[in-house]
Amino acid sequence: MQEIIEQARNLFRERYGRKPVVYGVAPGRVEVLGNHTDYNGGYVMSAAIDRVTVVAAAKSSSAQCRVFAQQKGAESVFTLDALRQSPRDRWADYVKGVVVELQKAGVPIEPFEAVVAGNVPIGAGVSSSASLEVATAMALLELHGADLPRWEIAKLCRRAENEFVGMPCGILDQFSSVFGEENSILFLDTRTEEHEAMSLPADSFGLILIHSMAQHTLVSGDYATRYRECMEAAAWFRERLGEHVQLLRDVSWEEFLQWEAQMPEPLRRRARHVISENRRVLDGREALHRGEVTRLGDLMFASHESSRVDYENSTPELDLLVGLAREHGAIGARLTGAGWGGATINLVEESRMEEFARRVAEEYSRRTGIQPGVHRCHIAPGARAFRE
Ligand code: GLA
Repeated sequence: MQEIIEQARNLFRERYGRKPVVYGVAPGRVEVLGNHTDYNGGYVMSAAIDRVTVVAAAKSSSAQCRVFAQQKGAESVFTLDALRQSPRDRWADYVKGVVVELQKAGVPIEPFEAVVAGNVPIGAGVSSSASLEVATAMALLELHGADLPRWEIAKLCRRAENEFVGMPCGILDQFSSVFGEENSILFLDTRTEEHEAMSLPADSFGLILIHSMAQHTLVSGDYATRYRECMEAAAWFRERLGEHVQLLRDVSWEEFLQWEAQMPEPLRRRARHVISENRRVLDGREALHRGEVTRLGDLMFASHESSRVDYENSTPELDLLVGLAREHGAIGARLTGAGWGGATINLVEESRMEEFARRVAEEYSRRTGIQPGVHRCHIAPGARAFRE
């Protein structure tokens, strides 16, 4: 991580001729269990990983803001009184959206220059976008000597994505990036905001992310469709069970079983996924409390199956990766993040890590002709800010 901070510092010097004043550092995350449960008021399990986005910033003497993104090799220039989406620089919308939300939260943002550097793989389902939002918020708060509660930071970053970027995501990614803890899996109840960090014996087990390198459809369009279907499914239950049903979180598994035969498709399958997935997260939490890592692994496999069959957000490549993971001895494996491409997360015994990754990667490229991206993930702490 230190080298990313160095890169940001050097790049800032090169481009803007002085040292940055503040840094915001925010990790990507893996979703361990709880697929598409967050915007349904449900439960999630995740971990922040040792891949970060760094935003180095200083106030500007002109009226313009300038933000340079190292991974894109592009600069976005804008003024604070006219913040608009820019279809050419989609990445900059995450920064601008956070600026808007900070302004709404009463932080008097002044023109600034910033450099974004990072090693969170883009498009792999590990939330490079949330890490950019959170790193921006952390850097700008520090730059303006302002402070906000950590929950508020996570929420305003989510609002930036919902309202400015236009992606109806839940709170999972921003929460994980803000609240990550070393060697701990996070649990969150998105309704009550209760959360806890549960330690994973890091010397015995580890997480490997395997990027399928195959994106099938426009994720944001499919995501919005699923979001709508879930809201329709909740409304369907509201009519039958009463006004207390706001989101699918409010429907128990028993109620679902009682009504499922009458539900129209595809709402039945979407609801089945979300409601059963909520149960899996609660079971997974219990399993971790009892130190039953194998049980957690089984729940991960079951989660993938539910995504594949009922939520239909998997791909043949992700299914192949999960199948290979099972064959080669993973304790658990599943798609992670939105789906429709991206990566799988694999829970593997520490002593088998290398061989596991090598075998799965070899077999995957033999069968598909695609070289997967393999990233060993260490579970890392959440976001922070500091001054030069
Ligand atoms: C994306 C979204 C999250 C969550 C996951 C699916 O990562 O940003 O809010 O919905 O997909 O669980």
